[in-house]
Amino acid sequence: MEGPTSRVGRALDADKMAKLGIRNTMRMAKLYNGLRNGRRQRMRVRKQRRRGLEPRLRMEDGFLVDDSLALPHLDALLEQADEIIAERGGQAPADDRYRAFFRNLVKVEDLARWPALLDFVSSPELIGVAADYLGFIPALSGTLPTGVRVVESGKHLDALAHLPPRDSQVFHIDPYDHPMVYVIVLMRDCTDRQGPFTWLPASASARASKELNYWSRGRPYRLSDEEIYSVVDPGETRRLTMRRGTTLFIDTSRCFHYGARDGEEPRFQIMYGLTSVCRSDFSESYMPLDRPPLEPDADELRRLVLDRAAR
Ligand SMILES: [Fe+2]
Repeated sequence: MEGPTSRVGRALDADKMAKLGIRNTMRMAKLYNGLRNGRRQRMRVRKQRRRGLEPRLRMEDGFLVDDSLALPHLDALLEQADEIIAERGGQAPADDRYRAFFRNLVKVEDLARWPALLDFVSSPELIGVAADYLGFIPALSGTLPTGVRVVESGKHLDALAHLPPRDSQVFHIDPYDHPMVYVIVLMRDCTDRQGPFTWLPASASARASKELNYWSRGRPYRLSDEEIYSVVDPGETRRLTMRRGTTLFIDTSRCFHYGARDGEEPRFQIMYGLTSVCRSDFSESYMPLDRPPLEPDADELRRLVLDRAAR
């Protein structure tokens, strides 16, 4: 049975926060989650300040593309991802019927079997980039988005591929937390034929949001290309058409984005969602929380990244 908080939270999040509008709902959720988890979030801010490390790489204008292939554990990550694709590619069940074109090949129970997935996302170098940008040490999301995904996408999975772009194939900004960081790793070279992840830098996105009154009550969550490009120069659009191993850090709560559109050939990428522990949605009040495996002797940083309840 759902308690009253879950029922209210679920109703406010429904239809991409349509009831009160996205901006209002996000503010309310931040306050609510702040009351519940504020102490743990402030600890994460303090710990990041004390680390005081300048990262080798920095996110600018809401994103960073790292094509150096130098991040720790990347080789093991790609090797294990190949195993996952060999075993599960082309046959994962659809998340839901609206997004058949986008399928996650792993569940939280699989993370112990392919440890590079967690080793990669909890390294000091990788978290350093995200934490420097966020101002706190983030944790893997345990609800929306799924914290760790190995994603196959493309028209080959989609019986409705003849329809116009839909769902996450259309420009939007994520409302789960603000700010937040997605880390996306290409498991295969990605070209325009694979439906690359596509985004606008934060400054261009801010201009578009303002002019189009985005996130206000009654305004839609997804915006057509026509609408976006009525206020943004198409030349500002970025695409993750890069080689295998390239890693994108991006604040999807500031940058308009879409992906998996017109995927003539399969695309494979790993996607991590890193958030605060005071999210800007209510998902933790009505969804079960994914708990990645955590060794008893894990160091502090790994504990903070993998365990949202860490104190
Ligand atoms: Fe998104």
